[in-house]
Amino acid sequence: MKHLLATADLDRAGATQLLDTAMSLQQNLLGKQVRKLPTLRGRTVITVFYENSTRTRVSFELAGKWMSADVVNVSAGGSSVGKGESLRDTALTLAAAGADCVVLRHPASGAAHRLAEWLDGTGTAVVNAGDGMHEHPTQALLDAATLRERLGDLDGRRVAIVGDVLHSRVARSNVHLLSALGADVVLVAPPTLLPVGVESWPVTVSHTLDAELSELDAVMMLRVQAERMHGAFFPSAREYARSFGLTEARAAALPDHAVVLHPGPMLRGMEIASTVADTPSSAITEQVRNGVHVRMAILYHLLAAATEEDET
Ligand code: NCD
Repeated sequence: MKHLLATADLDRAGATQLLDTAMSLQQNLLGKQVRKLPTLRGRTVITVFYENSTRTRVSFELAGKWMSADVVNVSAGGSSVGKGESLRDTALTLAAAGADCVVLRHPASGAAHRLAEWLDGTGTAVVNAGDGMHEHPTQALLDAATLRERLGDLDGRRVAIVGDVLHSRVARSNVHLLSALGADVVLVAPPTLLPVGVESWPVTVSHTLDAELSELDAVMMLRVQAERMHGAFFPSAREYARSFGLTEARAAALPDHAVVLHPGPMLRGMEIASTVADTPSSAITEQVRNGVHVRMAILYHLLAAATEEDET
C-alpha cells in the first residue's frame, strides 16, 4: 500500500488485512501501562488539518507516538497557509523537510488525491483524514473494526446509515467498505439529504427510520453537517429529530444485539438522544479507542510493512 486515499480503493482482502493488524496491535498493547512499540522509530509523520478535528487528529498523533514515530502537527491557522501558501507548496515543503507520511484533512473533495499526485516520486505516503464531502477512509475502517468486535463477521449483516448522507464523507467511505466486507447497507434519510446518483450505489434507500429498525444489526447515526448546508434541507431541528433522530423509543425497537454508532462530534438531542448515546448498545467510545489502533495499523502498512518486506 502506497497511500490510503479512499475505501473505494480497498478490496475485501486489503481491508481485512488492515483490520486484523489493528486487532493484533490492540492485543499487543492490552493492559500495558507503557504503550510504546519501536516499529516506526526514526520515521516522521506530519498531520496537516485545514478543518477542525478532535478525534481524528488526536488519534493519528497517538498512533504515531505509540509506534515511536516523530509526529508533527500542522494546522492551517498556525502555518504559512494563513499567509496564502498553496496546498502544493505546503506539501512539497513538508516532503522536503523529511515527512515519511502526510495525514491530510481538507475541505475540498479530492484534496488528498491531488496531494498524492504532487508527492509522487518523493516517497512520502499520503493518508486522507477527510476530504470535503468525498471520503474519510480511516473513519470507515475504525467503524468496521468496532462492528467486527461487537458482531463478528460482517457478511450479511444489515447496517443503516442515518441522516445527512448528502454531506457525509463518513457515509461514502462506509458504503464502499461495508459492502466490500459483505454487509447490506441501507441509507435512511429525507430525499433532500441524499446525493444525486445514489441509485447506482450498492445500497437500499429508505425515508422511514421506524420501518427499518427491527431488521438492523447496527445503526450509524450521522451528524447534521450545518457547515456544509447553504440553504434549508429540512424544516427545523425538531422536525428532523422527530423523523430521523435515534430516540429512546426507536432504540428500544432495535434488536437486543444491535450496535449504535456515531462518528462524532454528536449533537445530543438532535440526531441521537443523550440517553441512547450512553447505553451499553452504544459503541461510540469504542469507536474512538479503535480509531487509534486502526490508524496504527495504517501507518504500519504504509511505513513499516514495505521496509520489512524489502529486508526479507
Ligand atoms: C467526521 C468528519 O469529520 O467527517 N468526524 C470525525 O472524523 N470523527 C464526521 C462529522 O464531522 O460529522
